[in-house]
Order: sequence, then C-alpha cells, then structure tokens
Amino acid sequence: MSKYWSEVVHKLNPYTPGEQPKMARLIKLNTNENPYPPSPRVLAAIQQATNADLRLYPDPGSEHLRSVIANYHDLQANQVFVGNSSDEVLAHVFQALLKHQRPLLFPDISYSFYPVYCGLYEIAHRSVPLDAEFQLNVEDYLQENGGIIFANPNAPTGCAVPLEKIEFLLQHNSDSVVVIDEAYVDFGGETAIALIDRYPNLLVVHTLSKSRSLAGLRVGFAAGHADLIAGLNRVKNSFNAYPLDRLAVAGAIAAFEDQDYFLQTCQAVMATRDRLATDMRDLGFEVLPSATNFIFARHPRFAAEEIAMNLRQSGIIVRHFKLPRINEFLRISIGTDEESASLVSALKLLLHPA
Ligand SMILES: Cc1ncc(COP(=O)(O)O)c(C=O)c1O
Repeated sequence: MSKYWSEVVHKLNPYTPGEQPKMARLIKLNTNENPYPPSPRVLAAIQQATNADLRLYPDPGSEHLRSVIANYHDLQANQVFVGNSSDEVLAHVFQALLKHQRPLLFPDISYSFYPVYCGLYEIAHRSVPLDAEFQLNVEDYLQENGGIIFANPNAPTGCAVPLEKIEFLLQHNSDSVVVIDEAYVDFGGETAIALIDRYPNLLVVHTLSKSRSLAGLRVGFAAGHADLIAGLNRVKNSFNAYPLDRLAVAGAIAAFEDQDYFLQTCQAVMATRDRLATDMRDLGFEVLPSATNFIFARHPRFAAEEIAMNLRQSGIIVRHFKLPRINEFLRISIGTDEESASLVSALKLLLHPA
C-alpha cells in the first residue's frame, strides 16, 4: 500500500502465475508448458536473427509474421493481430472490445486472468456457472451482455465445446463480440477460425506458448474481422508500438514453417495424455475429458491438496486451485512419457502404499 498509487491500483486483485521453481531436477507439471523443446528450425532462426540489427527497432506492425499466420489460417493479414503473448493480446481485447455498459459474461470456472483484466479496466462482468459436469452450455449465455469470452477447450477443466455450439452463440449475439480463447485448441479441439469470414463479431485468440513450445518467447495472436483488429491496433499503438521484438518474430515465423515438428509433438502430447488419463482412472481418479495438454482430475478419497503436497515431496509439481467447486481437483500438465510414468508410480505409492 502506498499513498502514491493510483486509485485503481488499490482495488486490483492481480493474477497469480503458476510457480516457476528454482530447484533443479523437478518434474514440472504445473503450468501447461510443452514438454518438448521448440523446433530446431526455431532455434536456428533466433540464432540467425541475433545480429547487429538488434540495434534497430523491430517492425511495429510485425507485417511478416502476420502474413505468415494469415496464410497458415487462410485469412488476410488485416484479420490478424499479434502481441507479446496471448495474455497481452487478451488485455488489449478486454480494453478495446469488451468494456461496455452491459456486463461481460464468462464461465465461473475458466482462465483466472479474465476477472483480473476486468478489475484492471473496470469492466462490468457476470460469471455464468458451468453445469454439474463442468460443461459449458451455450444456452446459458442467452442473456443481456456486452461481450462473451471463454477458453475453448476450457482451462482448467480441459473440456471442449463443439463448433456448432459456438456458431449458435455467434448467431444469437450479433450485437456483442464473442471471444474464443483457443490457447489449447491444437491438442484436440476444433478451431473457430474458419467461422471468421461469416461472423464479424467473432475474435479467436491463440498462443505459441503451448502447442509450439514457445512459452519463453511470448508470442500470441488474435484473428477476426478487420474492424475488430483495427480496434486492437488503436489500443496497442496507445500502449506499446513495438510489442514483438526481432527475435520473437524470427522464432514465431520459423515455428509456423515447421509443420511436421508441430504435428509430431502435438500427437506425442495427446498420446501421453490419453495413456495418463487411463492410468489415473485405474487408480480411482475421476478424470474429466481433455482436449488439451493437461488433465483435470479428482480422487474420491484423497484430498487434492494433500496429493499435491505429497507429489511435491517426490519432486513432482502439479497445480491445485483453492477455489470454490474445484478445490478437490488437480490440474496436471502433460509431460514426456518418462515424466508421466514417474507421476503414475508416485501416485501408486501414495494411494496404495505397499
Ligand atoms: C486459457 C489460457 N489463455 C491464455 C493463456 C496465456 O498464454 P500466453 O500468455 O503464454 O500466451 C493461458 C496460459 O496458461 C491460458 O491457460
């Protein structure tokens, strides 16, 4: 607390990121990073871009990267906005498109940064409960709103909403923007990007942090009607005109150019996920269906917090949210096959000690 703070700072309730522990030799399954390294082509491109040109500002509009993304998703470059992580893109989205008299709607269980942005930008909002099975019913969003946002597949549940339901939502909300945060879509979800040309109120947000193994590079983007993108650019150019540095742009372009590596690593993560879900069900866990690079699970007899603490003693970190409705769940990011096997062994020891 300080008398020098602006008024809004006193009221903020900042996001708490998952722990980035300093200890070596940990199995880190707590922040949904990709267990595989970035494509070797990404590393080579970043090395090549590490040259004397770093004395120069980067292209403020990241034109080259935007055209690569547009090409990849069959869009025009003016339908793509890029930012320094999807968190930054989302922040601009909240400010540029979701602040209205009517409340913004999002699920009661969703990405916990959404209410934080509402606090920062003083946006009226209302949470809409997921059903008893933690599924999102689009009919629940047929109410007055100044915008809708949710992650699809959702975080931290991992559950996905099919595309026809998204389309239903878009048709019934033509007066407000519907934002679909597709941070995890490449692990088995269906992207709504193909609907962009039909729905001027749709904005889809992606990140390179998960499926492209680039959480450390901080690149995200939004795709939508050119008018929505123009609004985002107005906010971006009132905040930071050069959000993507030269190395990030070089790495991100190379990531889109190595499609084989991308598909191969996504397949590997999904296969490990499905095996882990089966193993955990065999151990008595209830595991929600996941279309992401994590699973969300609870055990009927063991408290999630206790399991998390015990795993930590075995050098395995998972995420536990002390929040209403999900206090009994653990969110476990998908690691390599070896990491997954270590997790299952530790759980076996904990739940069925010899
Ligand atoms: C649903 C969702 N959206 C967005 C993000 C932010 O990703 P980044 O800022 O790394 O692009 C995350 C990160 O965990 C997430 O879970």
